[in-house]
Amino acid sequence: MTGVLTLYRTSVGKKVIMAVTGFILVGFVVFHMYGNTKVYMGPEVFNAYAAGLRTLGEPVFAYEHLLWLARLVLISSVVLHIWSAASLTRQSQKTTAGNAVGTMKRYGAQKRQTGYAAYTMRYGGLLLFLFIIYHLLHLTFGVVGFAPGQYQHPEGDAYQVYSNFILGFRNPLVSGFYILAMIFLGLHLFHGVWSMFQTLGLNNAKYTGLLRGLAILIACVVAIVNISFPIAVLVGIIPPAA
Ligand code: HEM
Repeated sequence: MTGVLTLYRTSVGKKVIMAVTGFILVGFVVFHMYGNTKVYMGPEVFNAYAAGLRTLGEPVFAYEHLLWLARLVLISSVVLHIWSAASLTRQSQKTTAGNAVGTMKRYGAQKRQTGYAAYTMRYGGLLLFLFIIYHLLHLTFGVVGFAPGQYQHPEGDAYQVYSNFILGFRNPLVSGFYILAMIFLGLHLFHGVWSMFQTLGLNNAKYTGLLRGLAILIACVVAIVNISFPIAVLVGIIPPAA
């Protein structure tokens, strides 16, 4: 009994960790998407935004200190999010293996119902992880997706994030990968935000429609706005810096 209770508590605990870190990550993704819309306002505004991220909190915080704090929170959230997801999956597989045949049949029916969401979360989540690695190597470090000498690292007061953005998305293959990843991000956000509401106890039947609508809204806005960036560069709506 104690063992079952401990298991129960542990899996609830892991679900809460997944929901709370998911909440932080959704917040980041929405903020990041909003920040990137400044690219539509031209190079000065976009480069000033990039510079502003580094000087955030000054003079109370020194240069890049608040940014590094945010990076640490983000990295810890990603690690905890993946750890809780993997360990919940292992736990549910173990429980299934230990079940009697009758329960197995019941689980089979449940698995069919949730299989699509579970599959999307697991493999979509893996693709998103690979996307983040690629994205950092691409637009933060400039070591992939650019011809030699094209990417300009921030130097002193000069931030060339705008021209990196344009040159980065001019490559249709790179843009295609971003668009594919953003479709998976939309699906991940929809299922993730919906599960987060349930884990956090917001599963009153009265609000089901509202919460589902909110999950769909967040997922669609983030996916559509993010997909607009590579497309806008490819069709010339966002022009190269003069
Ligand atoms: C089409 C969609 C996206 C665009 C256009 C975009 C654009 C950018 C740009 C231009 C930078 C460099 C900013 C700078 O150095 O000031 C950046 C950094 C970053 N992006 Fe994105 N991004 C997109 C989607 C995402 C997504 C979906 C995630 C995470 C799930 C993400 C995570 C990050 C992270 C962690 C950084 C590094 C921030 C830092 O530590 O300085 N991005 N992105």
